[in-house]
Amino acid sequence: MLTVDVSKAASFLSEPCEDALRPSLEQAANWLQNGGGRGSDFLGWVALPENYDREEFSRIEKAAAKIKGDSKALVVIGIGGSYLGARGVVECLCSPNYNLKKKDTPNIYFIGNGLSSAALREVYELVEDVDFSVNVISKSGTTTEPAVAFRFFKSLLEKKYGKEGAAKRIYATTDRARGALKGLADAEGYETFVVPDDVGGRFSVLTAVGLLPIAVAGVDVKALMSGAEEMMKLCRGNDFSNPAWQYAATRSALYREGKKVELLACFEPSFRFMAEWWKQLYGESEGKENKGLFPASVDFTADLHSMGQYIQQGERMLLETVVRFEPDDNQMCVPRDEADGDGLNFLAGKTLHEINTQAMDGTLLAHVEGGVPNMIVRAGKRDARTLGELIYFFEYACGLSGYVLGVNPFDQPGVEAYKKNMFALLGKPGYEAMGDELRARL
Ligand code: PA5
Repeated sequence: MLTVDVSKAASFLSEPCEDALRPSLEQAANWLQNGGGRGSDFLGWVALPENYDREEFSRIEKAAAKIKGDSKALVVIGIGGSYLGARGVVECLCSPNYNLKKKDTPNIYFIGNGLSSAALREVYELVEDVDFSVNVISKSGTTTEPAVAFRFFKSLLEKKYGKEGAAKRIYATTDRARGALKGLADAEGYETFVVPDDVGGRFSVLTAVGLLPIAVAGVDVKALMSGAEEMMKLCRGNDFSNPAWQYAATRSALYREGKKVELLACFEPSFRFMAEWWKQLYGESEGKENKGLFPASVDFTADLHSMGQYIQQGERMLLETVVRFEPDDNQMCVPRDEADGDGLNFLAGKTLHEINTQAMDGTLLAHVEGGVPNMIVRAGKRDARTLGELIYFFEYACGLSGYVLGVNPFDQPGVEAYKKNMFALLGKPGYEAMGDELRARL
C-alpha cells in the first residue's frame, strides 16, 4: 500500500504542521465526505470506487473487447480531463512506446487535445488505411478542440465504412443528457458512456472517460478500480495515518512558508503523462483567487541534466514530490566488460533498479541540502492496482489541499477566459461585438 514519507520536508517547516493544520484538515475531510463545502455538487468521485455503475462498467469491457476485435487503432478524442488520465495510465503501464510494441491490442492515438493541423494530419494518415474506431470524449460536449477533430475522424469513418458502419465504430463519452455530443450520438446511434454530473473532468479518469481507452490497451480495469477502492478506504481515516492528510498538510504548510512551485518527479520515464494528469488536477483545482502552488513536473534522471541546475541552486521557491515505484520484474543487469575501458565494472552485475535507487537517494540528499524540501510517495509495483491507489490518493489529497487553501477545488472559472476570446475572434454567432473589441486591442 502506498505510503508518504515527509521526513525530508518537515525540517523546512518552522513548526510541525500537524497541530496547526489539523482543524482545517478535519473540516476539509468532512466537506469531502459529507458535502457542505464549496463545489460540493462535484463530489461524485469520492465514493466512485465503490459506487460506480456496474452495468456501464461491463458495457465498457464489452466495447473494449469489440474494439480489440475489429480495430487496429483507437483514436481517442478529448482534451484536459477528457484525455490526460487515460493517456497517463496507458503510458505508465503499457509504455510511452506502446504503439510501437508487438501486441494483440490496438494502437491508441490521442488527438483533439490541441488545434495543430500537423498533429491532426499525422494521426489521420496513421489510421487512414487501417481498421479503426473512435472514442470521442467531452463532458460538456461543446469543447472546440475535440469537436473539430471529431469532424475529421467521423467523416473518415463514414467514407470507409458508410454511415451505419461508422456509427458502430464510434463511442461517445459525454453527459448523460446535455450537450451537442449527446444530441449527435443519439441522432446517429453511437454507443454512449456517461461522465456523471457530479464528477468534474479532472476527477473523471476512473469513469468511462478513462476506463474505455485504458481497457482497450489491455489494462486490468477491475484491478485499477480495486486499487482505488483500497485507497478510498484508507483516505476515510481522518487523521495523520492517512497518507493524503500527510501529503496535503505538508505541501500546504510549505506553501504558507513561501514554497510556490511543486515539482512532481519520477525516475520512471513512463510516468510522464501521469505527471501531466497530476498537473491538471492540482493546477485547475488550486490555481485561483491569486493563490495556489504552481504544479510542474520533471522526468529523472533525464531532467537532472537540464533542470537539475535550477533545482539545486536557483530561486528557493521549490518543493519536490517524488513518486517511487517498487522494481519491475525482468530487471536489466549491467554487463561485465573485460577491457573495462569505461571503468564501469564496479557496476557489473547490478540491476538498473539498484543504480536508479542510488540516483534517487543521491538526488534526494542533494536537493534537500540545496534547500528543496522533498516528499516521497512510495507506490507499489507499476501495475493497475498501484495506479488505482495513486490516482485516488492524489485526487483525495487535492480535495483536501484545495479546501485547506480556502478555494473551491472543483470549479475552473479561469478556463473560460481564453475560450470566450477565441470564439469572439473566430466570429462565433453571438460574439460579434466582443470580437470587434478584441481585434482593436490586438
Ligand atoms: O477538468 C476540466 O473540467 C477540464 O479540463 C475539462 O476536462 C476540459 O476542458 C475538457 O472539457 P470537456 O470534457 O467538457 O470537453
